[in-house]
Amino acid sequence: MPNIAVVGAQWGDEGKGKIVDLLCERFDVVARFQGGPNAGHTVAFDGKTYALHHVPSGVFRPDTRIVIGNGTVLDLTKLLEELDGLAEAGIDLAGRLYISDRAHVILPILKMLDALEESSAKAGDKIGTTLRGIGPTYQAKAARWGLRVGDFADPEHLEERIDRILSGPAGGRLAQAGQEMPTAAQLARDGHGQWKRLEQYVTDTAMRLNDWIDEGGSVLFEGAQGTLLDLDHGSYPFVTSSTTVAGGLCAGLGVAPTRVTGALGVFKAYGTRVGAGPMPSELIDDAAGDLIRERGHEYGTTTGRPRRCGWFDGVAARYANRINRFDAACITLLDVLDAFEEIRICTGYRLDGKPFEGFPASVSRAERLEPVYETHKGWNRDTTGVRKWEDLPAEAHAYLARLEEVIGTEVAMVGVGPDRVQSILRPGSWITRNVPDLI
Ligand code: IMP
Repeated sequence: MPNIAVVGAQWGDEGKGKIVDLLCERFDVVARFQGGPNAGHTVAFDGKTYALHHVPSGVFRPDTRIVIGNGTVLDLTKLLEELDGLAEAGIDLAGRLYISDRAHVILPILKMLDALEESSAKAGDKIGTTLRGIGPTYQAKAARWGLRVGDFADPEHLEERIDRILSGPAGGRLAQAGQEMPTAAQLARDGHGQWKRLEQYVTDTAMRLNDWIDEGGSVLFEGAQGTLLDLDHGSYPFVTSSTTVAGGLCAGLGVAPTRVTGALGVFKAYGTRVGAGPMPSELIDDAAGDLIRERGHEYGTTTGRPRRCGWFDGVAARYANRINRFDAACITLLDVLDAFEEIRICTGYRLDGKPFEGFPASVSRAERLEPVYETHKGWNRDTTGVRKWEDLPAEAHAYLARLEEVIGTEVAMVGVGPDRVQSILRPGSWITRNVPDLI
């Protein structure tokens, strides 16, 4: 059975949630392997739009099992709010939601630290994080004093651990900044109360996943953020603190590489980025960039911040394909480009006046890159009602064919609007061959 990763190939917000929502009817399980409430995916169907942060997009298919893996970081207050919201919408999670007992918990003081670090950083050093406590929680994990979901089962042990954190460097940093901190007793009491509400879902998810795969079950691995925000391969230090690339799923879920049968890359038909850091094809103070933002509703799901918009960066896309080795690409939001007479693709970079190969490791170089563009004729026609690959305009076919060349993989699916039905599967493509009976 297929076990396929769906991964963001740009700077996040590529529309992975919609692709997962669509594919998951052919999978038994959807599993998240990294990130936390910094993610925000929207899924629209039956005239309603749902915003999810922790819970994978497969939640709307009643027969799909949902896994939140050990590589994720969880804000228990926000997670419970999300589960309550789903319950109000009539989504039943009993017996089908599985939360790893090894996932790390975003303690309230780690969220405070995220805000403190961002507000006290000098202008050029601000990452522009989502302020959800992601970085400090992964730091605590790597420094080996973080708390995992399983630690919340025993209130006494929990209070002792939290007390040590409050009297350690993290607490010291907050105290030094004059921040008022909750007591260990209060944090332990609240945290244990939250654990009791979550207990029915908490389990060893690696064991469950491997058992299901052994039994012939199929798993869709849902990535959050995107390749260019990856801690190692992204535009460091303007990245998130987890491994967002397809390879990250193995450690983030306890599933061996030998069990993964494919990877799909999700790309927008153009580029966006939220937060600070290099974006070579960004359109700054530019009418085309503004039109992309307005047509694409390019404002963050988690923070509401306007996203930086630009043309499709083919060099960064090729780089993302090298790291993830996608079997196919899904191109989302193609309809956003319906209103353009001309569409550009960045096919090369120049650094200090000379051609530059690949994506540079150093941020100072990445910020000096100049994009080299080629221009394509737009289709200048509404595609939101198109449902079949062959009915796309000829200019859209030409644009997609060029994206295939620059990325280095086949385009297997295209999105022309936010609704489930506005997804066009390419006949005979890798997806149709590997995910049988999809549509
Ligand atoms: P953090 O993950 O909150 O630490 O933020 C680090 C960087 O990743 C910032 O530039 C954020 O804007 C960006 N980021 C984090 N999550 C997302 C996401 O889901 N979509 C897009 N950007 C994100």
